[in-house]
Amino acid sequence: MLAKIDEIENEIRSFSIGNNEDLEKFRLSFLSRKSGLSSLFDDLKSVEKSEKPLIGKRLNEVKKLAETKYDGEKLKLETSVKKVKEELDLSIPGRTFSVGREHILIQTLNDFISIFQKIGFSIAEGPEIEDEFYNFDALNTPEYHPVRDIQDTFYIINKFDDTKKYLLRTHTSPIQIRTMLANKPPIRIIAPGKAYRNETVTMKNYFTFYQVEGLYVDKNVSMRDLKGVLSYYVKKYFGAESKTRFRPSFFPFTEPSAELDISCFICKGKGCRTCKNSGWIELGGCGMVDPNVFNAVGYDPEIYSGYAFGLGIERIAMMKYGISDIRMFYQNDVRFLDQF
Ligand code: FA5
Repeated sequence: MLAKIDEIENEIRSFSIGNNEDLEKFRLSFLSRKSGLSSLFDDLKSVEKSEKPLIGKRLNEVKKLAETKYDGEKLKLETSVKKVKEELDLSIPGRTFSVGREHILIQTLNDFISIFQKIGFSIAEGPEIEDEFYNFDALNTPEYHPVRDIQDTFYIINKFDDTKKYLLRTHTSPIQIRTMLANKPPIRIIAPGKAYRNETVTMKNYFTFYQVEGLYVDKNVSMRDLKGVLSYYVKKYFGAESKTRFRPSFFPFTEPSAELDISCFICKGKGCRTCKNSGWIELGGCGMVDPNVFNAVGYDPEIYSGYAFGLGIERIAMMKYGISDIRMFYQNDVRFLDQF
C-alpha cells in the first residue's frame, strides 16, 4: 500500500495544470470521492493495526500535497484571467462587419419582374446551355446568319452527344420557344436570365449580361399593345418625364421589328460618351412574332398573333443610376456595390 501511495504522490507532483480544464481533471483524479486516493483511505480500515499509524500519516501527507497544489494552481489561473481583463481597453471601437446586400443588377431585375407581374405576366425559365434548335433554328435564324459565327457565339463541345451543336445561349429568346412548345395560347410571360456573347468588352457591352424576354401570344395582338406595355414600363420605372423611341430594326424572329431606345439619363439627352453623342440608349429589341416561329412551335399564324421583346438589364440599371461603364457591375468593388 505504501508503494501505491508513493505512485500517487509522483502523479500529483508531475501533473501539469495549464487551464481550468486541467484543474478540474486534477480535482477529479486526486481529490474527489471517486479518486484513487479516497479509495486508499477506505482501504485503511482493513490494514493491520500496527501499520495503520504509518500508512495513515502518509495518506494524509499526500492528500495535503494534492490540496495545496490544487489551491495554488487555482489562484494562479484566477489571477491570470484577472490580469487579461485589466489589460482590456474597452474604449477601443469594435470591429464592424458589413452586411451583404443584393447586387444592383438583381435589384434592377426584381424591380422589372414586379412591374410586369402586376400587369399579369408570369415568369418562365430556360437553361443557359442551349442547342442550336432553340437558340437559332426555331427562331427563324438561318444557317448562314452571322450571329451563328464562332466570333459571336460560345460553342460548347459535348463529348457525350455530337448530334447537336451546344452553346451558351446568346439571348433569352430560346425561352420563347420552350414556353410555346410546352403551352397553348394565350401566353403572357417574362423570362429573366443570363446571356453570353463572344464580344469585345466596351463601356456598353460585356461578354455576359442579363436580359429579360417578354412574350405575349393571343388572338388579335398588335404592335400597339407592344408599344403600350413597353412605354408603360419605362414611365413606371424611369419616371413620367422619360422619353422612349421605337426605331425600326431587324430580327429574324420578329416582323416588323424595332429597337426600344430611351433618352440618355447620363447626359439628359445632350450627348455623351456612353450614348455615343446620340442622346439615346438602346434598351432592347422587340417586334411582332414572325409567322415562321409560330410554324416551328405548331401555332397557327392565321389564328394567333403575338409580340416579343428582349431588354438588357445592365443598360436599364446604367440609365436608372447614371452608371457610365458596364464593367463597374462586374468588378466586385464593394465601394461601388455599397452605394445601391
Ligand atoms: C436580342 O438579343 C433579341 N433576342 C431581342 C429581341 C427579343 C428582339 C424578342 C425581338 C424580340 P439584341 O442583340 O439587340 O437583341 O440585344 C437586346 C439587348 O440586350 C440590347 O439592346 C442590350 O440592352 C442587351 N445587350 C446585348 N448585347 C449586350 C452586351 N454585350 N452587353 C450588355 N448588354 C447587351
